[in-house]
Order: sequence, then C-alpha cells, then structure tokens
Amino acid sequence: MAFLEVRDLTVAYGAIQGVRGVTFAVEQGQIVSLIGSNGAGKTTTLRTLSGLLRPVSGEVWLDGTPLHRLPAHEILAHGVAHSPEGRRLFARMTVEENLRLGAYTRRDEAGVVADLDRIYDLFPVLGQRRRAKAGLFSGGEQQMLAIGRALMSRPRLLMLDEPSMGLSPIMTQKIFDTVRDLRAEGTTVLLVEQNALAALALSDRAYVIDLGRTTLSGTGAELLADPRVQAAYLGEGVTS
Ligand SMILES: Nc1ncnc2c1ncn2[C@@H]1O[C@H](COP(=O)(O)OP(=O)(O)OP(=O)(O)O)[C@@H](O)[C@H]1O
Ligand SMILES: [Mg+2]
Repeated sequence: MAFLEVRDLTVAYGAIQGVRGVTFAVEQGQIVSLIGSNGAGKTTTLRTLSGLLRPVSGEVWLDGTPLHRLPAHEILAHGVAHSPEGRRLFARMTVEENLRLGAYTRRDEAGVVADLDRIYDLFPVLGQRRRAKAGLFSGGEQQMLAIGRALMSRPRLLMLDEPSMGLSPIMTQKIFDTVRDLRAEGTTVLLVEQNALAALALSDRAYVIDLGRTTLSGTGAELLADPRVQAAYLGEGVTS
C-alpha cells in the first residue's frame, strides 16, 4: 500500500456531485500533483482528505490508517496539513500569531519555537516582519505564510491548494523552489495547481482530474509529453 491511497472517492454538495470517482496514490517523499480545469473537483478532493467534507463513498488511507471517517482535528493529528485555496489567513493577526495557529494541537512549546525559527529560515521575509499584521503582506508573502502555517503542525503530508494563484512569475518560482526544498527535507507534498506546466515540471507523479474523475496519470515528464494534456492544460506553444 502506498503512503497515501485515495480510492474511488465521491463527494457531494447536496444534489451537486463535486467529486465522482477520484483514485490516486502518493509515495512517501514525493511531490504529487492534481491538475484539472476550473470546477474539476481538486479543492473538493483536498477538503475531503483533510476532513472538512465527508465523502459519500470511497476511502482515504495514510500509512495504513483509514482517515475517511475521522474528524478534521484527528486527521491533522495524523499528520495531514492543508494550505487552503485563497490562503485563509487572519489579516488582523500577526505573522507569528498566524503561524502559531498551525500548531494549535501541539503541547511542545520548545518544538514550536524551533519550528517557528525553521519557517523564518525558509522564508526570511516572514522572520523580519514577524510582528506585522498578515493583512499588510503581498500575495506572495501571504502564500509563504499560509505554507508556513501548514508546516507548523510538522505534517507528514502537506497539501497545497493553488499556491501560485495570483502570484508573479518570480514569486511563483520562489514558491515552487520551496516545495522542492521541502521534498528534499523529506516532506511528502500533494499539490493542486492550475499552473500545470510548473506543477508537472516539479512532480514525481501527477493525476488529471476531469469532471470529478481521475482520468490520466503518469510521471510529471510523461504528462508533460502527453498530447491530451498538452491540448487541454498546457495551451499552445508548448507542443511546437
Ligand atoms: N460549496 C459548494 N457548494 C456547491 N457546489 C460546490 C461547492 N464547492 C464546489 N462545488 C462544485 O463542486 C465541483 C468541484 O469544485 P471544486 O472547487 O472542487 O473544483 P476545483 O477543481 O478546485 O476548481 P478550481 O480550479 O476553480 O479551484 C464544481 O462543480 C463546483 O461548482
Ligand atoms: Mg479549487
């Protein structure tokens, strides 16, 4: 069994089916991406994995433990952290207060302080302005803070929903470089991205979600070379 296994997940919002058959696996230490168009079901999948939504059917297993019946705080305690679409920071709280929220289940204050320092090493701009209010930061800085907050739970699986949304190319590169660094440190990353080109270039493995179903999978390089992926998600120019 893989480190993370998601089997035939279906999720509904009342009468609307958000996800109707998502299956994928993530090996430990990998970066795995889910790509797909608007409304494909990527966010719904991540929200279900973190326990914010309950699946109608299907299973989620992390390291041999079934997560699909657990409440969100227990899933967090099992090591799954989620940096949500749109970041969801507390604008009137400081950088450090936002980061500490990511560690709210932890009792080891010394470890929390060590992890704050680690986040400030990873993102020096956060360390320099740790007492500034989060709402004053640029989009890219807020994204760093959202990732940092997720890392404060010391996750075994870090899920990032659209980390490059609204960011400049340079800031996007910085975020993706950080994701690479996190993998090098042993963090397993599940990445959702509309920027398919950048995500696939970085991914050990990727899955395409189309209309709520996983339809294609392969290594990042395989999907980059796949004409169906090029036509639907990479736009013109990549093939020429
Ligand atoms: N709160 C909600 N209530 C009802 N339907 C929803 C809700 N959230 C999402 N949906 C529907 O579920 C489907 C999947 O949406 P989801 O947000 O998971 O897509 P996505 O792949 O993350 O899209 P995007 O790339 O635009 O973020 C869509 O048809 C969407 O309209
Ligand atoms: Mg989404």
